[in-house]
Parts: sequence; C-alpha cells; structure tokens
Amino acid sequence: MFSKDGKAKDVVTPRICDVVWHDGEFIKWNDARVHVMSHVLHYGSSIFEGIRCYATQRGPAIFRLREHMQRFLNSAKIYRMDHKWSLDDLCNASIDLVKRSGLEQCYIRPILFRSLDEEHPAFGVNPFPNPLACYIGAWDWGKYLGDEAIEKGVDVCVSTWNRLTSNSMPAMAKSGANYMNSQLIKMEALLNGFAEGIALDDRGYVSEGSGENIFLVSGDVVLTPPLSSSILPGITRDSVIQICHEMGMTIKERTLQRAALYVADELFFSGTAAEITPIRSVDRITVGSGERGPITEKIQTAFFKITKGERKAPGDWLTYVKEKQTARVGKDVSDESGVAPNSSEPVLNYQTAIRD
Ligand SMILES: Cc1ncc(COP(=O)(O)O)c(C=O)c1O
Repeated sequence: MFSKDGKAKDVVTPRICDVVWHDGEFIKWNDARVHVMSHVLHYGSSIFEGIRCYATQRGPAIFRLREHMQRFLNSAKIYRMDHKWSLDDLCNASIDLVKRSGLEQCYIRPILFRSLDEEHPAFGVNPFPNPLACYIGAWDWGKYLGDEAIEKGVDVCVSTWNRLTSNSMPAMAKSGANYMNSQLIKMEALLNGFAEGIALDDRGYVSEGSGENIFLVSGDVVLTPPLSSSILPGITRDSVIQICHEMGMTIKERTLQRAALYVADELFFSGTAAEITPIRSVDRITVGSGERGPITEKIQTAFFKITKGERKAPGDWLTYVKEKQTARVGKDVSDESGVAPNSSEPVLNYQTAIRD
C-alpha cells in the first residue's frame, strides 16, 4: 500500500564544507558536536536558517543573505534567545565560511540553540539556565524535490495534519520544533507515494508545504496565502512577489480554500531548498494541463536568471563572496582592515512580507 521508495529518498549531497563556524571561530566538521543532554535535543529549542549560495560568473553569490539573517534574528527574538550576534557578524561569518569551503555553490545552515553547561547542568524545560550555541555549516545540495521536479513538477497531497496555530507555535519563527509538524506532513506524503504534502491552517484554509510556500495561478492572477494562514514568511515567496510586481503581473495575498487547489490553472512551491517547483497534481487531481504552466515558467526563468546573476534583481539580492572583504569576528581575524560589507544598506525589502 505504501511506497517504500519514498522513505529512503534524500536530496543529493555531493560535498560538505569541512569547517563549521562556531561562536566566532572556524572548527573542523568532526569537532562540531553537542552533548546528548543538551536542552535542544529534549525540548526542541533551536532556531535556524536555510540559505542558498549560487554559482555565478563572478564566483559564488549568496542569495538574499541579509534577509535570511534578519529572519534568523527575528526567530531568536521571538524565542527570547539573548545572544551577542549582530546582522553583520552573521552575514560576515557566512561569507567567510563560503570562502573557506571552496564550494562554488552551496546551502548554508546557521543554527542557534540552547546547549548544556556541563559544569552547571540544567535539565528542566526552563530554557534560561542553558547557554546558547551558534553554528553555521555549509554543503553542496541538489534539487530538494528531485532533479526532474523543476521542469516536470511534483505530485502532492493535502495533508491530514494541520499547520501550526499561530498562538501555539508561531509559524513565522523558523524554529527547529516547528519541523516536527513538517515531518508529520512530509512522512505522510512520502508513505502515500507523494513528493510533498500541503498543510491547511487550523481554520481549513491552505497554508504551505512542509518546507515551502505555495502559489496558485488563476487566469492571469497569481495568489498566495497571507501570513495569517500560519505560513513562514518565505524569502523566496517575497522574491516571487517582487518578481511578479516587476514583470507587471497581478499578485495578491488571499486566504485560499482547499478546493481552489484542484481548480487552479497552475500551482507552484517556493522555497530556498525547493526554489520554484511546479505542482502537477494534488490528491491525484491534475492541476491545469498537468505540466508546468506558462506563468510558473516565466517566474521560474526570471528567478533562476537572477540567482545566476544573469538578470538584474528587483533589489540587492546577491552577495558576491569573492568580492567581499569581511570584518571577521572572534579568533579567526585575518583581515583586520575589512569592513562589514553591507552595514550601510537598508534592512529590508523582506520586511514588507511580514505585513499582511
Ligand atoms: C515551512 C516552510 N515554509 C516556507 C519555506 C520557504 O521559505 P524560504 O523561501 O525563506 O526558504 C520554508 C523553507 O525554509 C519552510 O521550511
């Protein structure tokens, strides 16, 4: 009854960066370890980010680095994680990490979590006695929903699991604990032979995929659920919104009924990992013609050209790693003259996406 294949499938990881940034220093991948009694393992107390760095003619370029790191800071603030890192520190650390990795393209994973003070251990739910630890790792990562998905699209289902209620677990924070909900959605979808699941919010309106935002095309109008539908304020979602504006398309935030998915002309996911991935069926009902639709293709083409540095972005979206001098933090200072790359740049277009 269940497809066993789905269980074993994972995204291809050709290379992993052999150093990890930890609280201002670079340490070896093998030394990036935590105690099993760390608060985070028992109570899910982490916040994190997922950022892509693309290969361009000017070398590796990190996509919307400051916006991702601003969301990271927002997530930490929501969970009262009182750390010492500034936006510039985190951006510079990521730039340095990519430089050191030698990778032309990669996925960057910053994480901040409640650790364990081994000399004064604390084991209760109260997070405050536990020290915070911040790490950033990177690896080369393939297409999240499969190599063919970008062109051919994916078959998905509506999940029996609802997305989080905003007053229980805030979906706008990218916290590790939220991904237990995502795992329920993803496992159910995979075991039933689908590539991904779409969760409804607690009122029954369309929310998002387990790791992606969703867009619906009806005629020539592009629609996406608002933040009040318990979605993560996706950076890729914001990029799609801005690309649509720039191309003169009508784009609206609307609450969407489940049935709207079945009668849409086109559907697609957006996300750092999934990028722009068309959806060709929902609950085995074919979406539109069952192929990537023309509007999805137009947005996808613009998005990929921007990420490759081949088309001007609506904002300052690419950080060209090799062209940046960074003021390194912590022990590993080798470029004392460096200036934080973007410190005078305004923060953030992305903020427009957290207002409904
Ligand atoms: C639950 C969820 N929604 C949406 C997204 C898309 O967000 P972004 O475009 O910032 O990667 C992600 C991926 O991070 C996610 O995990």
